Amino acid sequence: MKLEMMQIMSNERIAKGTYEMVLAGEIPHLIEEPGQFIHIKLNDESLPLRRPISIAAYNENQLRILYKLVGKGTEKLSELKKGDSLDVLGPLGNGFKLDNHLEHKKVLLVGAGIGIAPLYQLACDLQKYQLDLDIIMSFKSKDEVYYLEELKKLGNVYLSTDDGTCGKRGYCKDVIEDLGSDYDYVYACGPLIVLKFVKEYFVDLDHVYLSLEQRMACGMGACYACDTKDKKKRICKDGPVFNGKEVSL
Ligand SMILES: Cc1cc2nc3c(=O)[nH]c(=O)nc-3n(C[C@H](O)[C@H](O)[C@H](O)COP(=O)(O)OP(=O)(O)OC[C@H]3O[C@@H](n4cnc5c(N)ncnc54)[C@H](O)[C@@H]3O)c2cc1C
Ligand code: FES
Repeated sequence: MKLEMMQIMSNERIAKGTYEMVLAGEIPHLIEEPGQFIHIKLNDESLPLRRPISIAAYNENQLRILYKLVGKGTEKLSELKKGDSLDVLGPLGNGFKLDNHLEHKKVLLVGAGIGIAPLYQLACDLQKYQLDLDIIMSFKSKDEVYYLEELKKLGNVYLSTDDGTCGKRGYCKDVIEDLGSDYDYVYACGPLIVLKFVKEYFVDLDHVYLSLEQRMACGMGACYACDTKDKKKRICKDGPVFNGKEVSL
């Protein structure tokens, strides 16, 4: 983990209310697995707390984040320009674990809204295995869709929108039910309602990995602001990715 001023290489709107930012620095060297996150401090006295954002992709010198405008912090982030610097702590947390047992398995990624972000690097990393990869991408509406072409290159994509303007009309859970439960590994990120459904639907499966979200403060396990529902784990330090059997939602 490192604290550094990273350089912004680009910061662009890629869909309604959704931005992609590329950052350069030394933190990318330290990333161990997909699903880890960075903790961003904005240069604004009214925003004393850092904002956690998943690492969506990385190489040796750069990392990419995808973020949705929901409040003052993300609004401020969207105003930054190429060449600006950004105060970043990271990489933080435990991400998605990959191992050779994935060889020849049937794998499902379930992403809803901005929850698709950390699944992108995971889908890239899964390419090194011979496996069958299905990817569910769910959005509210067509204008919020992002990374469709990128993910189509990596697996069989099943797209849905709540209003039916693109892909199947319906919710993430409807697509999961269409595809059925015949998978060996499931990885999910999205709103709590989606994670709860995935946990229950695949209750008999040992390999269900859920990336949880929670409001955070320190991001390093020190303040207990981000406890899981049963208060047994800290999402920032023990997660954000947990085996579905290990965590109460
Ligand atoms: C491990 C982790 C990874 C994340 N990865 C991403 C990502 O890749 N892209 C992305 O866009 N967002 C991600 N988030 C959520 C992101 O941290 C928040 O959206 C952001 O901090 C909001 O800051 P803000 O100042 O814009 O909004 P605020 O003004 O702080 O909040 C605006 C609204 O969003 C809600 N909110 C804020 N933070 C969270 C949160 N953590 N979980 C649920 N609701 C929240 C608030 O309750 C409020 O209703 C992640 C969160 C965690 C914990
Ligand atoms: S944010 Fe402080 S313990 Fe998780």
